[in-house]
Amino acid sequence: MTENLENKIKTNKARIAVIGLGYVGLPLALSFAKKGFKVLGLDNDYDRVKRLNEGTSYILDIPSKELKNMVRCESLKASTDFALIKDMDVIIVCVPTPIKRRYTPDISFMLSAVKSVAQYLKKNTLVVLESTTYPGTTEELIRPILEEKGFKAEKDFFLAFSPERIDPGNKHYDVTRIPKIVGGLSEKSGYLTKMLYQKIIKKVHLVSSAKVAEMTKLLENSFRIVNIGWINEIAMMCHKMRIDIWEVIEAAKTKPFGFMPFYPGLGVGGHCIPEDPLYLYWKAKRYGFNPKFIKLAADTNAHMSLYAVHRLEEMLTAQKKKISSSKILILGVTYKKDVKDLRKSPSLKLIEHLQLKGTRVDYHDPIIPYLKIGHLDLTSVRLNPRTISHYDVIVVAVDHTAVNYQLVLKSAKMIFDTRNVYGKIKSQKVIKL
Ligand SMILES: NC(=O)c1ccc[n+]([C@@H]2O[C@H](COP(=O)([O-])OP(=O)(O)OC[C@H]3O[C@@H](n4cnc5c(N)ncnc54)[C@H](O)[C@@H]3O)[C@@H](O)[C@H]2O)c1
Repeated sequence: MTENLENKIKTNKARIAVIGLGYVGLPLALSFAKKGFKVLGLDNDYDRVKRLNEGTSYILDIPSKELKNMVRCESLKASTDFALIKDMDVIIVCVPTPIKRRYTPDISFMLSAVKSVAQYLKKNTLVVLESTTYPGTTEELIRPILEEKGFKAEKDFFLAFSPERIDPGNKHYDVTRIPKIVGGLSEKSGYLTKMLYQKIIKKVHLVSSAKVAEMTKLLENSFRIVNIGWINEIAMMCHKMRIDIWEVIEAAKTKPFGFMPFYPGLGVGGHCIPEDPLYLYWKAKRYGFNPKFIKLAADTNAHMSLYAVHRLEEMLTAQKKKISSSKILILGVTYKKDVKDLRKSPSLKLIEHLQLKGTRVDYHDPIIPYLKIGHLDLTSVRLNPRTISHYDVIVVAVDHTAVNYQLVLKSAKMIFDTRNVYGKIKSQKVIKL
């Protein structure tokens, strides 16, 4: 029986379902389809399913042309019908794993997806969880659900965890160029999952268990949140000491070993860095362990948008202006450069803080034409000398490539540069984070 599944993977005949067609699931589904597998994307977002079936991409990194080609040759299709799982040999789960309240995981998406898998699971299927989660999830949470109707893991079906490490917007490292970590419930699950991913990724690193794979992903993301929190603290310290943090980082970078640059900013956003380490924080607490670094870094990063408001107040006061009657333009509202993703974007928090102060806030973002989130309802302002000169301060919140920073510099009254886009330019107008 297992040989049959192994053979199907080996010969690219395995039918693969990817559940959750977002930033992680869509590129993955496309990669398997391009290797000749028949791939079914399952999502409960009807609009995404419709667009995929029309070959229209909704993720900037994925060209519609590639989707269209795969849809046309019937290698890739999408559906909202989970009953189709019964025809699948491999099921990969890529649904969101956000934080519910502060520091508490919201596993509802994962539970709902895995329950659908359990309902239609046939024998001799490989199930892989890619969603980032706390150590122990695959063994303690997913396995019992899949065994509910009497199937036994590692006998009737195979189960593994393989974290996604995709970096949206990174043109160099697409999903196929990033080494993949795989940890199975048993040796057999690990072996089958490694074989599967080797079809699309050159380097697959097998670890001894799903728990090790889960922890590896959280080590990586916690490393980022802690270092970003640390550099944000140093940036605030440097401002007090009148030292240019950006010049310090450039200098430290010349050390060929033992230093890796991280950059300060308005905080962290997206689905991963603000949330994933908190899964680890939550789980560690259940073991009676208090992970101090993660909490400190999360709090420091969360504070940065408020810190930016204080800095703006400081700048405006020096000009004898009040923040409550000032006009401020935010350049960039996504959580990251050149990525069309607003989730947990620190720019949005900054806009809200400023509005509470009574400031008139507008924004410009080349990839977000309008903002309709919560109580925010704004349209991206066009950048020209007249509009730029209209504002008391322009805040460079995100360093999108498509913005004409020279034009902004020429016409702005004052600029608060939180991304160092003006580098070594010496201008009285530019104040750096
Ligand atoms: N975005 C990243 O950069 C990134 C990188 C590495 C890992 N991850 C992890 O990958 C996972 C997915 O993240 P994402 O950014 O792709 O999320 P996303 O929000 O872009 O996409 C998730 C998709 O899952 C769908 N979905 C939700 N519940 C579902 C269900 N029960 N059944 C079917 N579909 C369902 C949603 O409609 C959505 O289309 C998360 O655990 C995240 O932490 C994300």
